[in-house]
Amino acid sequence: MSESLLITRIGELVTNAPAGGDAPGTPGPGPFEVLRDAALIVEGDRVAWTGLSARAPAADAVVDAAGRAVLPGFVDSHAHLVFAGERGAEFAARMAGRPYDAGGIRSTVRATRDATDAQLRAGLHRLAGEMLRQGTTTFECKSGYGLTVVDEARSVALAAEVTPEVTYLGAHVVPAEFAADVSGYVDLVCGPMLEACAPCSRWVDVFCERGAFGGDEARAVLTAGLSRGLMPRIHANQLGPGPGVQLAAELGAASADHCTFLTGADVDALASSGTVATLLPGAEFGTRQPYPDARRLLDAGAVVALATDCNPGSSYTSSIPFCIALAVRDMRMTTEEAVWAATAGGARALRRTDVGYLAPGARADLVMLDAPSHAYLAYRPGVPLVHTVWQSGRRVGPLLRSGSPYGRCPAVGHA
Ligand code: NIG
Ligand code: FE
Repeated sequence: MSESLLITRIGELVTNAPAGGDAPGTPGPGPFEVLRDAALIVEGDRVAWTGLSARAPAADAVVDAAGRAVLPGFVDSHAHLVFAGERGAEFAARMAGRPYDAGGIRSTVRATRDATDAQLRAGLHRLAGEMLRQGTTTFECKSGYGLTVVDEARSVALAAEVTPEVTYLGAHVVPAEFAADVSGYVDLVCGPMLEACAPCSRWVDVFCERGAFGGDEARAVLTAGLSRGLMPRIHANQLGPGPGVQLAAELGAASADHCTFLTGADVDALASSGTVATLLPGAEFGTRQPYPDARRLLDAGAVVALATDCNPGSSYTSSIPFCIALAVRDMRMTTEEAVWAATAGGARALRRTDVGYLAPGARADLVMLDAPSHAYLAYRPGVPLVHTVWQSGRRVGPLLRSGSPYGRCPAVGHA
């Protein structure tokens, strides 16, 4: 039997516990929920128990949270981590007034094609490590900077080394050599490239936007992926209004991502479908665009997720805490809504029922903050608050050291 670990004297435990409590078989996260003066027991890679510190059963080992907050590990449902090079000069030019367009992607495509597997792997592992240190215990990773059969296939194979949530994004932009033959490129993406990438991929994605792929092309890519067993998700309505969100709802996509320019019909489509609206405030920050209207989506009843969109062009951040702070300050999400969106919302966007919440049976992915509540993620923006991370029950910290306790958890006798 695996050793049990009791984490006790948790000032605030964000559980997002499923409705129906501990009933076995309850699928996935529930609404935002916290327990105060709480404790949690991990057995193996799972959460075995949550409740009040004062009622915690004994365990083989004990960690004293000393009043700190514990949250489910963040679920980053949108990231582009397989690439070479960087575009710092493009970012600087944007901040000096140049607009963002999809064309910058092609410069990363050139660098990625020129890179060795080892170079791509090193960059990928660096970013995956950055994410983990900032509390992200589940992340999605897209291809999309190769855009040849060979380069897309190696991108998804590399991504599969670090996550099961691999997305085939051969339809990121039309590469320069196909500029005069867009339909030829769509045929490649839906044919030989899909065949080469499907074995390592769970998802298919397309950048449906002016300058990338139109509605008909996006439909062709997503339905080809579906017929090969990949589930659809989509980059939609990022730089202007377009057909992407409606297409996502119609095809039953798990998620429509960006959602910056939405019509009333788009909001209704998201609210009445199973498609999650994934908001990526790092992209609006990095492109100096208006933020998506999170309040309008939430008030209409849509399910909202927050993710980083980590990529070298529009959003070179791997930090979910940064995205939470932006969402709270600039998108009028409450601290509860933002933390739910970055944990349970991400899980919903990836159709995962084992992560994004902390209740018996959930994967033991935990973030302990050097702070007494989840609100500090927005209240203290830019501060490295992640103290300790557990992934599948394995401690990957401590990442910070601090002796200062918070709150007034009652002392318990399990030392
Ligand atoms: O999600 N919009 C499309 N893809 C990325 C940007 C990629 C890039 O600029 O390199 C995004 O923002
Ligand atoms: Fe993206």
